[in-house]
Amino acid sequence: MFEARHIETGDKAEFYRELAQQLEALLHGETDPIANAANTAALLFQMMPDLNWAGFYMMREGELLLGPFQGRPACVRIAVGAGVCGTAVARRSAILVEDVHAFPGHIACDAASRSELVVPLIGSEGVIGVIDLDSPSVARFDEADQAGIERVAAIYLAACAQAPALARAS
Ligand code: SME
Repeated sequence: MFEARHIETGDKAEFYRELAQQLEALLHGETDPIANAANTAALLFQMMPDLNWAGFYMMREGELLLGPFQGRPACVRIAVGAGVCGTAVARRSAILVEDVHAFPGHIACDAASRSELVVPLIGSEGVIGVIDLDSPSVARFDEADQAGIERVAAIYLAACAQAPALARAS
């Protein structure tokens, strides 16, 4: 049984080093993209303070489709270029939003969300989806969180690299 260890540190770089180790242990030996996304979302939501949503959107037939997540029910489909998630796909880069009310086109799934971090999942065949984190606090996320979640994305992609479903998803 995997048991997540509470991370006792105020230092974000140290927090993400420990989180990365726990994620590698959690995904070890499994390649299924849905199972691994579900456990990654659960670990992020359990370990990261001050979140109200953590999860995945996956590219399906040219748009983002809701994947495994923790939090309130969310919008199901997002077009590339729409909202924070679709914009991250179009730009092929992470987006940090300090105040979602100031981001033109932000898609509100939970009225409690005030800041957001979206990191694209860039596999060998292009963008296959995104990791999306929402917080009820303004400016919850900074560059250290972005770097940490980019590492989480890399661990997720490496774990799923041999899975047939991932190869078809681009
Ligand atoms: N806020 C996102 C939509 C997804 S929810 O936050 C879960 C966006 O603007 O793309």
